[in-house]
Formats: sequence, C-alpha cells, structure tokens
Amino acid sequence: MLVGISKAVIPAAGLGTRFLPATKAVPKELLPVVDVPAIQYVVAEAAAAGLTDILIVTGRGKDAIADHFDRAPDLERMLDAKGDAARLAAVRVPSELATVHTVRQGEPHGLGHAVWCARDHVGGEPFAVLLGDDLIDERDPLLTAMLAVQRRAGGSVITLMPVSAEQIALYGCAGVAPSELGVAPSAGLPEGDVVRVEALVEKPTPSQVLSHYAVIGRYVLHPAVFDVLERQEPGRGGEIQLTDAIATLATMPADQGGGVHGVVFRGRRYDTGDKLDYLKAVVCLASRHPDVGGEFRAWLTDFARSPEE
Ligand code: G1P
Repeated sequence: MLVGISKAVIPAAGLGTRFLPATKAVPKELLPVVDVPAIQYVVAEAAAAGLTDILIVTGRGKDAIADHFDRAPDLERMLDAKGDAARLAAVRVPSELATVHTVRQGEPHGLGHAVWCARDHVGGEPFAVLLGDDLIDERDPLLTAMLAVQRRAGGSVITLMPVSAEQIALYGCAGVAPSELGVAPSAGLPEGDVVRVEALVEKPTPSQVLSHYAVIGRYVLHPAVFDVLERQEPGRGGEIQLTDAIATLATMPADQGGGVHGVVFRGRRYDTGDKLDYLKAVVCLASRHPDVGGEFRAWLTDFARSPEE
C-alpha cells in the first residue's frame, strides 16, 4: 500500500523582534489574528491537507506553543461546569487538530538549520514545511495541490508567487523552466501553473534576480534535504538557508532525491511577518469572521470614510 505524506514541520524558533515589545514574553506565533493564534491557522491548514503529525521547531521562551496544542483540563472543566459549550469546543480545537510534537532549535542558525533539527522526527519520508508568517486562505487548497504534484513528480515541491521587481529582494527567487507535468493535477490551480525549478537565490541583489517568482512559505521536501543541510555552508545573513539547500536538490539526479517543481500560487495569502502585513491579515480575516465580520465590515467602511475617528 502506498503510504501518503503525513508529517509537517513548522519552524517557530524566531525571536519575533519586529513585534517587540508584544513578543517580549509571548511567542510571535501566538499573537492572535482575530481570535486564533497565527500558528493555529497553519496547523489547521496542514491537518486539512491530511498532515496530522506536526513537528513545531521551537526555542527558549516558546513553551506556550506546546501548551496551546495540549489539553487544558482545568479550563475545560470550568467551561463545562458553566455550560459554555461554544468556548469549550474552541478551547479543544487546537488539541484535536493533529498530533503536535516539539523540538528545540537550540541556537538560531537560520531556517535551513531549523528544518535540519526535524531530521530524527521526519526520518526517510517526504514531508511538508509550513512557515508561520504566511497564512494561506482555507478556500485555496495549496498544500493539497503540492502534495499531488509531489506524488506525481517525486523530488521536492516549492510554492512560487509572482511579485514585483521591488519585492523580490525580500524573498527566495526561483529560475524556472516549463514542466513536463504541464497541467496542475489538483483543484485550485489553473493549467500551466507547475514549473520545473532550475535555480534559486535567497534574497537576490538586483543582478542576481532570476525571475519574478518569489518562494513563499509552503514546501514539500524530499528527505535528501537533510544530508544537503548537514553540509550546507552559511549563506545570506550568515545563516544556513533552506533556499540554498533546495537549490542543491534542484541540481541532483532524481534517483538521489533531487528534482524540484514549483507550484505557482495566485490565491489568497496573508503575511503576518511584519506590522503592516499583520494588520492587513487581521482586517481581512476579521471581515470574514462568523461572529463579528458583518458588523466589522460596516464599521470599517464608515471608518475609511472618516479616518480621524
Ligand atoms: C523565508 C525564506 C525565503 C522565503 C520567505 C517566504 O525568509 O528564507 O526564501 O521567500 O521565507 O516568506 P524570511 O521571510 O524568513 O526572511
């Protein structure tokens, strides 16, 4: 029987300096986007794609993340005794989405190093990596499409998003060629939106730009990436870059776990990585929130007309 991919890794060891002082004692992954911590959306996305074994790579001061995905018996008993069924259900959701494990990164050597810390847990199967700063709208089943591409093509699959020339320096940048896969095999992606990735550069200078395709934070990786990361020299910013390791995979033969495809994503993505984008994400998701969305949209329309309010 063919066993599908079941494991996802979520790097969450970053210090969250862009959100100080909010992140002085609270992990940035637990900052609420409306009433749900950012990382819960990401775990829910993985679970919706069938990935129910989640490893969160944390660091010092991040124990509250494990608490969030654990049961909370005292709180649950209190809500039960009050007959508050809605809040009781909400409190239980994070512990019921998936089996959540944690491992610590120990030292902050970069995203590639964080993924390398997952090697023992992941073992020899392909696995997904989801970066917590990128939220993908639940109506756009990107991860499901990526898993389908990986099943067909083998190797690794990354997500590419067309961005402007000014923005590409903020991302990994991909050099691509047409893929023999051609047509996207799954819902949510139009024809031609699967490409072969030939090269990658992390945060390119203007002369290094390969295309307008930015790497965004969803990956399905062949376990060969761990051996590559083991030998990876520090790259941009003196850190072990995941982008550099995937660039190596792109040059390796398929029988050694090489080969990288890119899924071009044109769906709805909310960035929570810096203050302005975080605010936009909160506004977008608040507008669609079942409890407050209607009232919030009406207020927002008025506020936009008279912003001095
Ligand atoms: C990371 C990756 C980068 C990618 C980005 C997507 O960068 O290193 O390749 O484009 O995530 O959000 P970071 O945003 O952590 O600097």
